[in-house]
Amino acid sequence: MFSLLAILAVSLLSASAIQVTSPGGTKGWTNDGSQSIAWQSVSTDPSNFTIVLTNPNRALMPNDNQILKALVSTNAGSTTVDPPAMGWPAVGGSYRVNLCKSSEDLNSILAQSMEFNITAAAVKSGASSATAATTATSPTDSGTASGDAPAPSKSNAAFQIGAPTGFVGALVLLCGMLA
Ligand SMILES: *[C@@H]1O[C@H](CO)[C@@H](O)[C@H](O)[C@H]1NC(C)=O
Ligand SMILES: *[C@@H]1O[C@H](CO)[C@@H](O)[C@H](O)[C@H]1NC(C)=O
Repeated sequence: MFSLLAILAVSLLSASAIQVTSPGGTKGWTNDGSQSIAWQSVSTDPSNFTIVLTNPNRALMPNDNQILKALVSTNAGSTTVDPPAMGWPAVGGSYRVNLCKSSEDLNSILAQSMEFNITAAAVKSGASSATAATTATSPTDSGTASGDAPAPSKSNAAFQIGAPTGFVGALVLLCGMLA
């Protein structure tokens, strides 16, 4: 059953020019908040598709797949997807996103990402580090010296701002290729 689907997927992939550029490989997702997807396409591709999260590992993802967003405009080149109602599935590897023809036809896969990991978000507190990174640091009433600026190279902070940075980077890359 699975190999049949795989063959079907591969044959459909070769008929489409859409390519998922992110997530995949080292460009993974976290389990905290919206995550970004970027792709490349040509004018002959369908005008829209449905984004589905999959994982063959049932221990990580008990359901076959999870529709994340329908009727995504192909021309957009990238989008963000909100977590499913039940939240992101378990942290781990072998996740993929499929770009499917429609939410009624999930077997028609236009493009499939490389495998990627969903990792635990570094910060789970209400104070989003993404917000903290883009706004001026608010004064705290703690006893620490005010000149003690947060280290920008902290791995947690770098990972948190990595998604939007990669998103912009993908757009820049895409624009560069189209120019
Ligand atoms: C994905 O996670 C596994 C451990 O679960 C790790 O070995 C692997 O290097 C990770 N892959 C990437 C691309 O980060
Ligand atoms: C979505 O794409 C299909 C073709 O795959 C097309 O028939 C349909 O009109 C499109 N819908 C919208 C809302 O763009």
